[in-house]
Amino acid sequence: MSTLDRRTFARLFALGGSAALLGHPAVAEAAPGSLRLSLPGSGTADWASIRAQFLMPPDVAVLNAANLCPAPRAVLDEVSRFTERLDTEPFPGFRSELLSFKERTRDALAAHLRVTPEEILITRNTSEANNWVSNGLELGPGDEVLIFSDNHPSNNQAWKAKGERFGYSVREVAQVNPHPGHEYYLEAFRRAITPNTRVLAFMQHTNTVGDVFPARELCALAREHGIVSLIDGAQSFGLMDVDLSDWQPDFFSGSAHKWPCGPKETGVLFVNRRIHDRFWPSMYSAYPGGRGLSRTHEGMGQRDTPAVRAFGSQIEFLSAIGQAEIEARSRELTTMLFEELSAIEGVHLWTSPHAERRGAVVTFRPGELDTRRVLAALEEDGVVAASRGGEDRPGIRFSPHFYNTEADVERGVEAIGRYMRSGL
Ligand SMILES: Cc1ncc(COP(=O)(O)O)c(C=O)c1O
Repeated sequence: MSTLDRRTFARLFALGGSAALLGHPAVAEAAPGSLRLSLPGSGTADWASIRAQFLMPPDVAVLNAANLCPAPRAVLDEVSRFTERLDTEPFPGFRSELLSFKERTRDALAAHLRVTPEEILITRNTSEANNWVSNGLELGPGDEVLIFSDNHPSNNQAWKAKGERFGYSVREVAQVNPHPGHEYYLEAFRRAITPNTRVLAFMQHTNTVGDVFPARELCALAREHGIVSLIDGAQSFGLMDVDLSDWQPDFFSGSAHKWPCGPKETGVLFVNRRIHDRFWPSMYSAYPGGRGLSRTHEGMGQRDTPAVRAFGSQIEFLSAIGQAEIEARSRELTTMLFEELSAIEGVHLWTSPHAERRGAVVTFRPGELDTRRVLAALEEDGVVAASRGGEDRPGIRFSPHFYNTEADVERGVEAIGRYMRSGL
């Protein structure tokens, strides 16, 4: 890492005063705590001060983490500081410095997921990561891919479309509501495996109703049968304490802009080293990564390197709070939501009443109320949620996270109670 010479110091100070100076990587590097993220003390997170680092005002309850999370001010500042610097100082020296930050982010991701940097690819989102998996494996006639019916289209639609093209078939394990228990799904996947099954692709935490899957056991089942496993971690990365060294999937995908609260359009794909020689790149272009698989599989041309850098800082922020603490906090708020919504007459919950079968998503049908109108009313009441249309478990989805407070939960529950009592 370059040192901060007097000339650079003077130029940065002239450009942006202390803000620009603090943003200089040499300063950040010299003092790791100076990422301008105010970190809580280890083990005792101060949730109110963490909430204060996000931009949404106190009277807006963002209960929509499963869709898109806000990023703390430090992430937004880091992206804009480095983007501004890139355009102010577009010299090769700074550009290669920015590229080198990719490796810093790779290190942060590897440490967070408990794997090696050589197994980490920095993608643009989970959709891309999932598609790299279905593009990169050699499958053909006679092969089968086993999926879960609730998987996201970036998983299921991709496998099905490529199955039609390359001649392999796709089998599906159907979701059951309410969640029938981890044993049920383990058994359902076990029964669905045939001698032709090559891939098992499932999600760890569903975006539909928040069902949680036994990721460790499903990966073990896949390994037992010589099957490649893909965990879609879009709804668990940044929420749950993911330990890939223990679970040992072949692939794990995630997005920075969901539960990690990182910058938009960055993501991750973990590729277990045991499968590197059987996994083809999906893209060939300039500016690959510097280590391991990224040298051959991450050449994606020009990228938003300031965002990639901020992704790494945000992962360090989560690690500093403690991912297990974040998970516990989000689950605690989810339980509060679940219990209070259950007490409202006419509300039907699709999410499991068993705490160990659910994550941090609560989906419910608000009686006979029209869900689109409920969503609009929630917006009026300062509550951000998502709706689920159609015939399959329709309703409203709340997904709280560590930046939420009990007051946010109360705001959402109070609004639903009022609509149920008085109509819309
Ligand atoms: C389980 C799952 N996988 C993949 C995705 C796609 O994520 P992204 O839009 O960040 O690519 C989502 C988005 O909601 C999801 O819930």
